[in-house]
Amino acid sequence: MPTDAAQLTLAQKASLVTGSSFWSTQPIPDAGVASVTMTDGPHGVRRQQQGTDHLGLHHAEPATCFPPAVAVGSSWSAEVAARVGAALAVESRALGVGVLLGPGINIKRSPLGGRNFEYYSEDPLLSGELASAYVRALQAGGVGASLKHFAANDQETDRMTISSDVDERTLREVHLSAFERVVTDAAPATVMCSYNRINGVYASENHWLLTEVLREEWGYEGAVVSDWGAVRDRVRSLEAGLDLAMPGPQGLQAQAIVDAVESGRLDVAVVDRAAERVLGLQRWQPDAASAFDVDAHHELARELAAECAVLLRNDGEVLPLAGGSRILVTGEFAIDPRYQGGGSSHVNATRVDAPFEGIEAFGAARGCEVRFERGFDSADTATADALRDAAVAAAAEADVAIVFAGNPESEESEGFDRTRLELAAEQVLLIREVAAAAPRTVVVLANGGVVSLEGWHDEVDAILEGFLLGQGGGHALAELLFGVVSPSGRLAETIPLRLEDTPSHLTFPGEQGHVRYAEGVMVGYRHYTTVGAPVRYPFGHGLGYTRFATSDVVVTATGPDAIAVEVTVANVGELAGKHVVQLYLHTDAGPVRRPARVLAAFTKVALDPGTSTRVRLELDRRVLAYWDVELHRFVVATGDYTVQLCADAVTVLDQATIALEGDGIVAGLTLQSTVGEWIAHPVAGPEIVNALMALSAAAGSQAQAADIDLSAGIPDIVGLMPMVQLVHLSGGGLDGDHLLALAAGPALPHPSA
Ligand code: GLC
Repeated sequence: MPTDAAQLTLAQKASLVTGSSFWSTQPIPDAGVASVTMTDGPHGVRRQQQGTDHLGLHHAEPATCFPPAVAVGSSWSAEVAARVGAALAVESRALGVGVLLGPGINIKRSPLGGRNFEYYSEDPLLSGELASAYVRALQAGGVGASLKHFAANDQETDRMTISSDVDERTLREVHLSAFERVVTDAAPATVMCSYNRINGVYASENHWLLTEVLREEWGYEGAVVSDWGAVRDRVRSLEAGLDLAMPGPQGLQAQAIVDAVESGRLDVAVVDRAAERVLGLQRWQPDAASAFDVDAHHELARELAAECAVLLRNDGEVLPLAGGSRILVTGEFAIDPRYQGGGSSHVNATRVDAPFEGIEAFGAARGCEVRFERGFDSADTATADALRDAAVAAAAEADVAIVFAGNPESEESEGFDRTRLELAAEQVLLIREVAAAAPRTVVVLANGGVVSLEGWHDEVDAILEGFLLGQGGGHALAELLFGVVSPSGRLAETIPLRLEDTPSHLTFPGEQGHVRYAEGVMVGYRHYTTVGAPVRYPFGHGLGYTRFATSDVVVTATGPDAIAVEVTVANVGELAGKHVVQLYLHTDAGPVRRPARVLAAFTKVALDPGTSTRVRLELDRRVLAYWDVELHRFVVATGDYTVQLCADAVTVLDQATIALEGDGIVAGLTLQSTVGEWIAHPVAGPEIVNALMALSAAAGSQAQAADIDLSAGIPDIVGLMPMVQLVHLSGGGLDGDHLLALAAGPALPHPSA
């Protein structure tokens, strides 16, 4: 195999940086270069041997459908994410795949996002930590990852053309943050650039994104691959830093590269650089003879799914289900489960557990009488009344009714966004009428993005949010309903009361080719907690069947920009369970508006009843910092930082405040700084006050410099004025360059001090 691209001809290099077929790169046998096969991901291997597509339409080889990211995100467990990654490495190699196209880590900016099922969270730290665990495990298993979709591809509407218009601080602190964390922590083999534009420039041609940020700032050394069909101009994309255009074959694109180099329009070094990075993928070659254990992976899918579901409500502890109960199960998802999303991630599952089968089995073992009524048929609403009546009648004869509801695949998928938050009307009607008839009612949800619980929430006793749990989800839900496993999931996306309350509501999904991220850094819970808006269930919420207590919180500064926290967690209930320690950070330090709190660190612990453990978590500087748009860098400001131990984003259990020295950066004064900021400067301030007096004297005022009480400040109308304006108004009384020299010079004590 060539040690560098320089040994290849221009034509060979041009073919190397352009896909050879829909799923593979160009082999160059006489140079010892093998083809590298890549395919989707992210929660199962979608290996197509015949017809190919990037929408999940054609046949794919059977593979395990593990819990999609929406479920893994709700597990809040890096271990769960890692175990998915490790298992996918085994299946990828068995199916001849060298690079698996995942994980997807875009931010759930709106609950209507069609691909929210394929992303982890509304929070970049949770997304980044889980994705890093997945990437490390996948690559440790010998398969490369593809971190996607870089960047700000947070909706499906017009995804191929729309411009995500995002200010720099919001990009850095939210929409690039998870990518930065995974790139620097886990070094994914590839990063997949998205279809959309960022501030008007296509990601595939965005030099700032693909080279200045990804390479020069973050030090990324892998290959940047395009989303399928995202490249519009191959030469421009090469110059921006896009190494591999997929899919192939793209003969015209390869020829365009050769022509551009030969005409002098493109430096061959740019082609060499891209070819080098694509050659770096040679290491990801599956071993031909490997296979995977279908049954063992199915059991694993079940086990992991049980750790993802979120118990939202459990009034009267109706769950876990009691032995000997008469149970009515209704809703088509009980027998025909929704367990994954539509589009390129769609897996040809080796088998699928239906919840009803599990409920029957566990119920029978506990002396329960279990009955099923369909309740509704999303393919044939004409039968809705009859099906509902039958379910209601059966509910009246049961001790507890379990209603399976959620979003049909026709309502949420890659390629389009949802248009409503509510469940289908026939489902809401079924829930309400069953709840009116049954002594106790449990609702089990299957949905990729959060749904509204309004209009029926108070009428039911328990709600188990399953999201989409993969092929083992049906069995897992049965285990959770009967208490074989205690629920331990936590919301990774807020459940709002109304769509209108969501921070992106006024701008999602955009208009006339632009979507403005007007909420800025206030995405999800950051918005609700900062404005004090009520939600149905907050980010981080989740119940279980046992009780945990936390104590002995110790917060220490481990550096000018780092904090360590120790907490004791005890299982004070009667059942084994898992608890998520959630630490948030509140600070007003720095010259910017900070969210009321942001997730700062988390970990999940498993404890038997009566046992405890002490955990230590580190808050890294990225969590403490804000992005300074004047300095164009992250800054940890000097000031007080309050670490909050929370049960969820709105429930603070304990907190401690600590002062941090930070980076010791004092934002420099510029002529755009306000007069008030300048007057506070010990040397420049008095000169400015004198100039103000001279100005007011010239205007006929009798006030003298001595009359101005600096401690009282000056009228806002002046103080908030940019200095450049006062310099102009002073008619020479103030010299901008002189002031800047004063500000840059030693801050001598004020003469009147
Ligand atoms: C799709 C998706 C991307 C996927 C690729 C290949 O359009 O956006 O996530 O990996 O094409 O199927």
